[in-house]
Amino acid sequence: MKNFELYNGVKIPANGYGVYQISKNDCKNSVLMAINAGYRHIDTAQAYFNEEEVGQAIAECNVARSELFITTKVWIDNYGENKTYDSVIESMKKLKVDYLDLILLHQPIGDYFAAYRDLEKLYLEGKVKAIGVSNFYEDRLVDICLQAKIKPMVNQIEVNPFNQNIEAKEWADKYNVVIEAWAPFGEGRNDMFNNPVLKEIGAKHNRSVAQVILRWLYQRGIVSLAKSVHESRIKENFDIYSFELDDQDMAKIKGLDTKNSLFFNHQTPEMVEWFYKLIESRRNN
Ligand SMILES: NC(=O)c1ccc[n+]([C@@H]2O[C@H](COP(=O)([O-])OP(=O)(O)OC[C@H]3O[C@@H](n4cnc5c(N)ncnc54)[C@H](OP(=O)(O)O)[C@@H]3O)[C@@H](O)[C@H]2O)c1
Repeated sequence: MKNFELYNGVKIPANGYGVYQISKNDCKNSVLMAINAGYRHIDTAQAYFNEEEVGQAIAECNVARSELFITTKVWIDNYGENKTYDSVIESMKKLKVDYLDLILLHQPIGDYFAAYRDLEKLYLEGKVKAIGVSNFYEDRLVDICLQAKIKPMVNQIEVNPFNQNIEAKEWADKYNVVIEAWAPFGEGRNDMFNNPVLKEIGAKHNRSVAQVILRWLYQRGIVSLAKSVHESRIKENFDIYSFELDDQDMAKIKGLDTKNSLFFNHQTPEMVEWFYKLIESRRNN
């Protein structure tokens, strides 16, 4: 396993395991499979409604807490002075941990400056080792970097071969913010796993398309967060350190960028409305 380093010296494992859309029933076992495969970095969120199941896996995994890197994210209905703070303490209880390695604001929507000040407080009290944001595209990221007393250490955004976010990475680099890639496979959209360019590069190195993508992110200095509920794929996705992409491979992958999200544009008014309603629909499921 390899680490990147945040600007405050905290080491972050370069490839993490994400639990979005893993059901409560599957979550504990999936996280245990990931930890057994070598993963030490687990990414969840209040809005995934599976923090308790992640916590059960943390409690049962027989790996020291100090070796694990646990991230959760605050949902927008928990934004607000003291409200964010309390919600993070509640998340820590569900996760059965007495500190978090990383806490993120999930979206730049709602009263996120008040929420961010609570993250700063948690950081100064030592309850979280690092703080950051998610889905803060270039303008929002620069704004919070210039406003905050403690700059975000991480920004988690969509990055995959079809949406490479090169400018977002450049702006993050300027402020020493590490980028984490959500949906590194774009959930398989646009037939990513069968893309001929990625398949050809995989065949050249005797690796799968998934391994090529995760290796490409690693070589760009981007933390990847991959999700799978299948043990063989979990092992495959963790095995990215025994080969290297050369300049030609990197250039070919760069040519796949469409500069468009495979999911949605966070900056439309319709999406803002959708995010405000989202939590109710998930809570009622
Ligand atoms: N901050 C945010 O707003 C945000 C948004 C989305 C995601 N995330 C984070 O990013 C993580 C990953 O994103 P994601 O789950 O949306 O998508 P993803 O990791 O890009 O794709 C997951 C899909 O790929 C399949 N898959 C995984 N490994 C594979 C392999 N080796 N070969 C073939 N298929 C494979 C999985 O199927 P199986 O499970 O059936 O194997 C699943 O359908 C999330 O779990 C979450 O932690 C964050």
